[in-house]
Amino acid sequence: MAGARGEFSSRFGFVMAAAGSAVGLGNIWGFPTQAASNGGAAFLLVYLVLAFGLAYPALMAELIIGRHAHANAARALGGLSPNRLLSGLGRGTGIIGLVVASLILSFYAIVAGWMIAFCLAAIAELLGLDAVADWLTGFGLARNLVFMLLFMALTIGIISEGVREGIERWSARLMPSLLFTLVVLAIYVLTLDGALEGLKVYLLPDFSAALTPGLIIAALGAAFFSLSLGVGTMLIYGSYVSDKENLPVLGGLVTLVDIGIAVLAGFLVLPAMYVALHNGVEIFAANGALLSEDTLIFTVLPELFATMGLPGMVVSVVFFFLMSIAALTSSISMLEVPVAYAIEEHGLSRRKGVVLIGGAIAAISTVILLDFGQLFGLVITVTTRYAQPLLGIVLCLYAGWVLNRNSLLMELQRGHPGAEHGLFWKIWPWYVRVVCPAVILAIFAQSVLG
Ligand code: PHE
Repeated sequence: MAGARGEFSSRFGFVMAAAGSAVGLGNIWGFPTQAASNGGAAFLLVYLVLAFGLAYPALMAELIIGRHAHANAARALGGLSPNRLLSGLGRGTGIIGLVVASLILSFYAIVAGWMIAFCLAAIAELLGLDAVADWLTGFGLARNLVFMLLFMALTIGIISEGVREGIERWSARLMPSLLFTLVVLAIYVLTLDGALEGLKVYLLPDFSAALTPGLIIAALGAAFFSLSLGVGTMLIYGSYVSDKENLPVLGGLVTLVDIGIAVLAGFLVLPAMYVALHNGVEIFAANGALLSEDTLIFTVLPELFATMGLPGMVVSVVFFFLMSIAALTSSISMLEVPVAYAIEEHGLSRRKGVVLIGGAIAAISTVILLDFGQLFGLVITVTTRYAQPLLGIVLCLYAGWVLNRNSLLMELQRGHPGAEHGLFWKIWPWYVRVVCPAVILAIFAQSVLG
């Protein structure tokens, strides 16, 4: 086994890294556009209730198991019980989780590559290099490959520097700049004509749209994806938290930042859509529904920016830069899952493990790009719709039933003496034992049957 494990140096570092993982492509355009087409503030409310009521407890399950074991997901889950069957199942779950995390990264890197390409395209346009900009915004294979590889190289570079020097240092730098850019952009867009219309759609609830069962399940799925649950990402970040820290508080902070940024992104994306509409850009499809999320980002927003002249191009650079940063702090957390396993279970050096695994994932992305029409949607569906909820159930069950009560109480008491008298201790164990698995099962059943 490799020597000393990494550890986050500070509370701030952990919160930035875990929030960096959680805040990603999902939050900045997934959530706002879902809210736009599903009842605005009503969807927001349902999302908030589910995120705090269910996703947060599930996040705690992963953080607690991770810190208890101070090991990668396979070893952590495998070590919770002396029973051979439970131990084997736990190990298997950890290994499936790392495969799923790798597959998520293989499609994420493709989309993140597009973000970088669009950012550079806006710079090219500013410089008058129209042909270059056209190549960058065209969805050709060469362009897709180049930017996927570039994004993977950035991810590999950061992860090979380790927990403190890589993950923590970069997340702590990138996250505040992301927050700052988001606020500045939102304020700017809110001053433009048409923005008020978008704000109305976002803030006036339409409950008839939000309270349908399908939508509640969609909002729950979005909350679990958004908090990076199920694949062992949060478990591994929990394993790098010092024993002195109060986990429920740290997990709560991460949840607040993740949801806060999604909500904030709503103040940018919805008004921007209606500013675009005001400027003659079509945002509705023929049937009156909003255009799909990828269309919105890759056609509506650039068209909007183009109608705004020079300031628009600058905003375009900043916006796609922001998306690239958000994607990068998530992708490093995905790559860390298989890398930690390779280091701890197979004795690989960090550098070697990162390059080998990162290379393998880039190869999978290449295969997806070569048969994009067939594979892209398939990988997204299998990983996010089926694998994440299923793995989430197992993780909650292991934290609730397999991790023994004393260890659990000890984890909760660290940094918080007297935790057993608190509300969290009274409610949370039942949540992860019964409520979380049951509700995730309902999501899973719905996606299989529906
Ligand atoms: N939470 C990330 C996002 O919203 C996605 C993610 C999923 C990250 C799983 C890590 C693991 O984009």
